[in-house]
Amino acid sequence: MTKTITLRTPDDWHLHLRDGDMLRAVAPETARHFARAIIMPNLVPPVVTGRDAAAYRDRILNALPAGSTFDPLMTLYLTEDTDPDDLEAAHKDGLVTAVKLYPAGATTNSASGVRDFDKVRPVLERMAEIGCPLCVHGEVTDSDIDIFDREAVFIERVLDPIRRGTPGLRVVMEHITTMQGVEYASESGPDLGATITTHHLVINRNHILAGGIKPHYYCLPVAKREEHRLALRKAATSGDPSFFLGTDSAPHTDANKLLPCGCAGCFTATNTLSILAEVFEQEDALHHLEAFTSLNGPKFYRLPVNDGQITLTKGDPVAYPPQIETTDGPVTVFDPQMPLHWWVETD
Ligand code: DOR
Ligand code: ZN
Repeated sequence: MTKTITLRTPDDWHLHLRDGDMLRAVAPETARHFARAIIMPNLVPPVVTGRDAAAYRDRILNALPAGSTFDPLMTLYLTEDTDPDDLEAAHKDGLVTAVKLYPAGATTNSASGVRDFDKVRPVLERMAEIGCPLCVHGEVTDSDIDIFDREAVFIERVLDPIRRGTPGLRVVMEHITTMQGVEYASESGPDLGATITTHHLVINRNHILAGGIKPHYYCLPVAKREEHRLALRKAATSGDPSFFLGTDSAPHTDANKLLPCGCAGCFTATNTLSILAEVFEQEDALHHLEAFTSLNGPKFYRLPVNDGQITLTKGDPVAYPPQIETTDGPVTVFDPQMPLHWWVETD
């Protein structure tokens, strides 16, 4: 029996598009199904000023297929030298939607991130004043903290103190991976949102480490134990407005993934909506899929929901290409290790 569901056109509230040839290869994969995305600023060098964001936005628009109406929502990479006036001007112009906080050393291209949180206090205070959300990579980087505990420790030692010290600051906990993240987000009220990736709804740490090491499942924050994955699935499929989709689709060429020190990131732009429909159906929650992909995010960001709609149809399993080609080499598409029965109808 064929079934269909129609959703307001989705948005991706956390996306890596990179630059140059990689950008040209991956931008159409997201623009095919999503109307908007929050674009991560961790280029080399990072997007730190309003001027950088304007130039990057132009490069993204130039990389889109002809006729695409995809709207990249730009972010600035918070550094200890970020100028609050530059940020305020870019936010007021509508050029910059949010600011991204990477603790220095937490992940790919985060070397220019924040070491001393007191140094960014004036920027955070300005953001609270002008209503500009802070997107947070929520992991401490201390070498004595086990990598599987870095998110929970960040909430206690960094996030909660920042929020208490900056009343009115609106924060998105990006790509939460733990039950502690779920609990903190669900208890914290409307000034705190949390994105959840597609892949963290599907994999736990066994996918990376059991039966041989699987670099294509390695991302940051690293996937945790099964009990955490189950907490994430419950949160994502609950309809709770605190939780919305941020795929963290993060392309790296296979050559850069399959190294003795390989890059972190799962590339999910191509098959994300098929995977999400499958997950929500497994949880008996297809009626909450639209809230997660299309309603809760705009509500948090105080933006209108999209006008358009997409239709997903259920039938025989669909096949996605295992890789997409780029001039730098192939990028492997995330393999959810389950048949996908839903696909997006295109006109
Ligand atoms: O897995 C990840 N990849 N996590 C991040 O935080 C960064 C991203 C990337 O840029 O590749
Ligand atoms: Zn990311």
